[in-house]
Amino acid sequence: MLPIWRVMKSLSTYIWTALGALMSLLLLTVASAVTPQLFRWGIDEGIAKRDLQVVLYSAGWLVVAAIGRGLFNFGQSYWAEAASQGVAYDLRNKIFSQIQNLSFSYHDQSQTSQLLTRVTSDIEQIRAFLSTSLIQVINSVVTLVAIAVILLVMNWKLALITLTVVPMAGWLLANFLTRNGALFKQVQEQLGDLNAVLQENLLGIRVVKAFVRETAENTRYTAMNDALVRGNMKTIRAIRNTFPFIFLLSNLVTLAVFGYGGAEVIGGQFSIGELVAFNSYLLLILQPILLIGFAAPAIAQAAASAERVYEVVDAEVEIRDRPNAVPFETCGGRITFENVSFRYPGATTEALKEVSFETRPNELIAVLGMTASGKSTIMNLIPRFYDATAGAIRIDGRDVRDFTLKSLRSHIGIVFQETTLFSGTLRENIAYAKPDASMNQIIEVAKAAQMHDFIMSLPDGYDTIVGERGVGLSGGQKQRLAIARTLLTDYNILILDDSTSAVDAQTAAQIQAALDDLMRQRTCTSFVVAQRISTVKNADRIFLMDKGRLVAQGTHQELMASSPLYGAILESQVKRAPEAALLG
Ligand SMILES: Nc1ncnc2c1ncn2[C@@H]1O[C@H](COP(=O)(O)OP(=O)(O)OP(=O)(O)O)[C@@H](O)[C@H]1O
Ligand SMILES: [Mg+2]
Repeated sequence: MLPIWRVMKSLSTYIWTALGALMSLLLLTVASAVTPQLFRWGIDEGIAKRDLQVVLYSAGWLVVAAIGRGLFNFGQSYWAEAASQGVAYDLRNKIFSQIQNLSFSYHDQSQTSQLLTRVTSDIEQIRAFLSTSLIQVINSVVTLVAIAVILLVMNWKLALITLTVVPMAGWLLANFLTRNGALFKQVQEQLGDLNAVLQENLLGIRVVKAFVRETAENTRYTAMNDALVRGNMKTIRAIRNTFPFIFLLSNLVTLAVFGYGGAEVIGGQFSIGELVAFNSYLLLILQPILLIGFAAPAIAQAAASAERVYEVVDAEVEIRDRPNAVPFETCGGRITFENVSFRYPGATTEALKEVSFETRPNELIAVLGMTASGKSTIMNLIPRFYDATAGAIRIDGRDVRDFTLKSLRSHIGIVFQETTLFSGTLRENIAYAKPDASMNQIIEVAKAAQMHDFIMSLPDGYDTIVGERGVGLSGGQKQRLAIARTLLTDYNILILDDSTSAVDAQTAAQIQAALDDLMRQRTCTSFVVAQRISTVKNADRIFLMDKGRLVAQGTHQELMASSPLYGAILESQVKRAPEAALLG
């Protein structure tokens, strides 16, 4: 279905409002169509026959018609606006919840700024189309048909001369729409690109300043801004190229009617009143053509925007519940990877290659390996942020894809490698997943994450506002807040992905000690992606990753004895961070 039809179909939710607008529109057309007839009556029956009463009557009715036009005009635009606001509201909600549902892989590959532009500017284009252009077009078509009939009845020869303008104008418009659809879409994309630069700069303003790239970024933005203006000017040229022809056509027709109609009046086949009425209708019939002309670019724009909005709304949610998915309730602690291989969408090489392992109940697993060896990828597959390309991941023998996503994820506590916080208070951030958590619970997890003392030292304590993305906190404080946030959830499986990398070794060891208790009590299995020897030594088993493969597993002692890679990594760490070795 064409996106623009789909937009119009979505008006069905606001059917009564839309019908109200349509009714007002029809009544408006009637009031407009009657007006010239009242003039004709007043002139031919009143002025020509010197009958003052008819003149006064016709004047009175003209006033009534004028008031009617005002009222119906208001009703039409008010209800059209109301319906369009409703559709835009629904679309915004729909696209937002779709963005929430879309999988990691979609967000990996889509540009945030393009999504932002779709939610804001594109939906606004659609709304403007519904509230203004659509009404204009319907109004024009109705008026055109009604007046064409009246003209044909009044004087068919003169009517035919007048109506020649309709197919010509129609052809020009159709031509305009097909030629320029792509152009309007391109302009929306350029707006998205411009927003991309703005957004990147807002997020990275500190990097921009640190690298003294203000001038370069200004140039980049200006270039995109120029491109947008060029694109817009192109559309304006396209509009301006088409419409002078329509104006010219309509003026020529007026002249023809004046000449031919004047001759008929002199010949006595047509009264002056009829010619005046005819001329008024002529203006009424040219107006809709011009209106459609003005509406055409907005329609093309809205069509392009609708396509962009529905692209997101219809995007396939790759990771979703299977038809017979069951809730994940209890965890026995047996997590199995069976020959799991994984390739990120769009990537050329595999991030994981035939990884197989099985955890035992209550085990604490440390995952170690060089950068980009696939540690985070393993962690991403357990809560099904992505599905394995080959092989299977099971929890207590059951494929993770058999569980409902919601239950699976709410039983897995994950601390991401990169911390994202929200603007709000410290308390709100910690209680993000559990807004109704008690203060005691919040303090308990903050203590475990070694965050409580710091928070209490702040004048506002837990009510301290942290800025966007946690501005105002140090890197390590953010990480500890993220740990506290995760500890507050109902996890059975805990995943810490290098989540103390920005915390000093001593504090990390304290966190580790606090977590050790929690992990052994509350979880069935825990994974810690580790850099520090202290963590590794604490673990029951260590998985060693190398270039996407699980190359060795065992205890610290076993790996020291058997794996040269393990020895090399540890050695490099001892050299790099002697304090870590000391603590270990
Ligand atoms: N979202 C993604 N899309 C495409 N490729 C990705 C994505 N995330 C990671 N990769 C690739 O997958 C490979 C493994 O990455 P992964 O994040 O698992 O490494 P890691 O072992 O966690 O490294 P680090 O210690 O640096 O965190 C890398 O080659 C990386 O480039
Ligand atoms: Mg990682």
